[in-house]
Amino acid sequence: MRSSLFYFFALCSFLGFAQSFSIDDEQIIFHQSRRDSLRSMMPKNSVAVVFANPIRNRSNDVDFVYHQDPNFYYLTGWKEPHAVLVLYSSTQIDENGAYNEKLFVQERNARMEMWNGKRLGVDGAKKMGFDRVALRNEFIQSPLDFSTFEEVLIFDFENDERDLDNDPYDLYQLKKTFKQSIGFPLDFNRTKYSIQQAIRSVTNENYVELKRQINRQINRDSTLLEDELIRAFVESESLDVPTDLKIKSAFALRNYFFDIEKLERYLGTLREEKTSFELKKLIRAIEISAIGQVEVMKALNPEMSEREVQGIHEYVFKKYGAAYEGYPSIVGAGNNACVLHYIENNEAPTSNDLILMDLGAEYQGYTADVTRTLPVNGKFSEEQRLLYEIVYNAQEAGISIAKKGTRLDQITRATQQVVAAGLVELGIIENEKDFGRYYPHGAAHHIGLDVHDLNSYGPLRPNAIITVEPGIYIPDGSPCDPKWWGIGIRIEDDILITEDTPINLSEKAPRKWQEIEKMMRETSPLDQFKLPGLSQ
Ligand code: GLY
Ligand code: MN
Ligand code: MN
Repeated sequence: MRSSLFYFFALCSFLGFAQSFSIDDEQIIFHQSRRDSLRSMMPKNSVAVVFANPIRNRSNDVDFVYHQDPNFYYLTGWKEPHAVLVLYSSTQIDENGAYNEKLFVQERNARMEMWNGKRLGVDGAKKMGFDRVALRNEFIQSPLDFSTFEEVLIFDFENDERDLDNDPYDLYQLKKTFKQSIGFPLDFNRTKYSIQQAIRSVTNENYVELKRQINRQINRDSTLLEDELIRAFVESESLDVPTDLKIKSAFALRNYFFDIEKLERYLGTLREEKTSFELKKLIRAIEISAIGQVEVMKALNPEMSEREVQGIHEYVFKKYGAAYEGYPSIVGAGNNACVLHYIENNEAPTSNDLILMDLGAEYQGYTADVTRTLPVNGKFSEEQRLLYEIVYNAQEAGISIAKKGTRLDQITRATQQVVAAGLVELGIIENEKDFGRYYPHGAAHHIGLDVHDLNSYGPLRPNAIITVEPGIYIPDGSPCDPKWWGIGIRIEDDILITEDTPINLSEKAPRKWQEIEKMMRETSPLDQFKLPGLSQ
């Protein structure tokens, strides 16, 4: 405990130091430093090209609220659509001098700005720390020559979509131009490409596992066997890695003038380890979310609908300055709590239900992910409490090992063991290996700009923040005593990873069943909140 507090105070004083910058300077420095770090990881003579998120239509001439692509935002701080970042591994020279990055942005447009708000334009981008800024039409009218680079690093185009009609420079056109200039095949198959990459770098250690994985993919998509290389690899009877196939896949990949995996790997490594600038935002997002849970504990009564509960959380988030929810809020009572991503939130609980509330504030781009499960009437029934205690103990087991070097699957396993033993003890399953029927998800993931944040998929590193979130869900009709039916429980906290002691950043929201009941006995200002009746 002592070391965790020490770490926390050290962290706060470090964060305090950062406050000597104005927030804008700090933000510019943060994004610049992210680009510098990425540059230092890129292969020699390579270039990375990253696109903004598309605009998505919601209904007729109303679009969904625009949300920037988190990788693009991480590298630029730019929140507008129709933009491209070109980042070079080394300095480029042209008639205007030296540069190592270029940002293409949408133009200012007084009429559009009157409807949709200010655009920052070229001058705004320069103020954000970019020396070389051009308008998006230039990206199309004077396509960049990528042929002099050894590698062009890109993300895949899965999020590729036409987003505006009759706009010759919209994101779709920017991507089309780019794809032409790098010879991106029209029939590009990401799965095939990834398998070829994996075969190229297969080692004796992962040879058997890779074959197993490829066979699983073939089971889902048998057309993969039409690829000679893939077929030869899975049919090979060699006990050692077939070197000839490794060489062949390296040759096959030379047909591609781009790499679609490295960028994601580099950004996963960078984004996993939060900087002091990011920690400040994320810690606040989590604290806000925990306070939202506390306010609902105080206010909840059996007359409230799931949607009203959601409204209280989201009001608290916004009161503290969070712009959005980091993901659609999940508020489900009774059997609805057994739907893992239940977002309808449109029913009225009964007094005897548990209500599961999984919500996260997004504060300045960073999102929390906190879940609490409460008895609607303020008191856990015997069955609810017995199951709750299993989930609580599972979470304790998971949190206790959440530190540097642990892998997420170890955390999941630690929680599974407790849940499995607990379900057997209550007679809900006969055999521990059947726990997955009632606990079907993993117990941990990284959070950050994405609620399921990009990461390096390796052992945990200090300054990562992860969730620990076991659950038990017993839908109506399950093959067990009906007294357990309609109970869904998840407890989810956000944990800062350190060298040793885990730091629970969402601990402001009580987790122990006794503390929850105590908090629910407190009064709430919302007890007095009455709206007029409606005329019909
Ligand atoms: N709220 C989504 C999750 O817990 O992963
Ligand atoms: Mn989660
Ligand atoms: Mn969650």
